[in-house]
Amino acid sequence: GAPVEVDISSLTPGEIKTVEWRGNPVWIMKRTPEQVAALGKSDGELADPESARTQFSTTPEYAMNEWRSRQKDLLVVVGICPHLGCSPTAKLQTGAQPSLPDDWHGGFLCPCHGSTFDLAGRVYKNKPSPDNLQVPPYMFEGDTKLVIG
Ligand code: FES
Repeated sequence: GAPVEVDISSLTPGEIKTVEWRGNPVWIMKRTPEQVAALGKSDGELADPESARTQFSTTPEYAMNEWRSRQKDLLVVVGICPHLGCSPTAKLQTGAQPSLPDDWHGGFLCPCHGSTFDLAGRVYKNKPSPDNLQVPPYMFEGDTKLVIG
């Protein structure tokens, strides 16, 4: 399919925009400085914090870091659970909530079988999802345009 071009100039901190790429939703989220800082706090609870697994998809080299993205504040992931393909729900509020760890720092919850992901799309330990959320190939053109694919 053709690459998808997205104008990211109007994204505000904390906002998630969904676009379609190859028939799947791709989430583009501008993380706040607090959300970026929180990414390091859950490493011990994540199944693959370094994104080293390759059984489901390979994380592009530019996203093999704690924030899993080219720019620290901008998350770009496929919004499909690697377990059986449901679409996880954003749970941005921090702290204890039903189905989430008490020390939740914000992330995504899959409604089907309870897989939880942090705000870099990294799956928590002992969850059905075999992998982190997929990072699609993407690049930037100038300051305002994101090109996916
Ligand atoms: Fe997401 Fe099963 S499809 S946990």
